[in-house]
This record gives sequence, structure tokens and C-alpha cells, in this order.
Amino acid sequence: MTTPSPAIAYVSRRYRFAASHRLYAAELSDAQNRAIYGKCAGDNGHGHNYQIVVTVAGPVDPLTGMVINLDALDALVRDRILRRYDHRYLNLDVEDYVDLVPTGENIVRHIWSLLRDALPAGRLSKVRLVETRDNSFEYQGEAA
Ligand code: NI
Repeated sequence: MTTPSPAIAYVSRRYRFAASHRLYAAELSDAQNRAIYGKCAGDNGHGHNYQIVVTVAGPVDPLTGMVINLDALDALVRDRILRRYDHRYLNLDVEDYVDLVPTGENIVRHIWSLLRDALPAGRLSKVRLVETRDNSFEYQGEAA
């Protein structure tokens, strides 16, 4: 049997964390924040059951038949993302958002960079952040 080579495959795995946030830009007035973010600018924040889907690309190892060891990916996501974000109030508890509004767009970009730095170059293909039933955000790195 012949195996197509070099075969690039994409492996995606889903993870979950719960966190709260408030969409509020300190540079703007309360009225401006309310106009932009609506109820998401409320004083006390609100929570989401977030999901992230991490996609790793790479050649299929001819010996193992795998692109990445999922236990290793699990450990990486747990250490770099879930420990940092799960059950936190992102605005105050996570330094990434001290000066950055924790919108889905900004969260997915931060998750991307935290994982990219921990994986071999070029292997992180995509991160998708699911915030609600209707909202999700994707990031694939800087445009080439
Ligand atoms: Ni929200």
C-alpha cells in the first residue's frame, strides 16, 4: 500500500472554559461605551461558557499516523490557556486584558499567540473561540 506523501493533515480539538468579562473601553465615556457595547458594558460583567477549537496542521508521521499527540496538545492548552482563563474575570484577573477590551476578537488573538509560541513554527493553523450559540471568532495569525 502506498501512502500519499508528504501528507498535510489538520487536527482539531475542542476545549471549554468559563469566564466573565465586561466590554468597556476606559478611553471612552460611559455613554460611548453603552452605545458601542450595549448591555455588555454593564458595571458587573457577565459570563460565558466558552469553547475553543484549536487546529494544528502538519505532516502525518509515517510511524504513528498522527500529526500531533493529543495528550501533548491537551497539556499545552491546559497549561497555557485553561489555567489562565477558566473561572476568571478576564478584565481584572488576566493581565492580557488590563489594557485591552476582552472582546471575542481580542481573546481569540491572545489564545492564538499563547499557543503559537508553544508549538513548532507553522503548526498552529487556526483557533476558533465560540462565545455563544450565535457568536464565534476565528484567528489564523497575521496575514502573510
Ligand atoms: Ni459577553
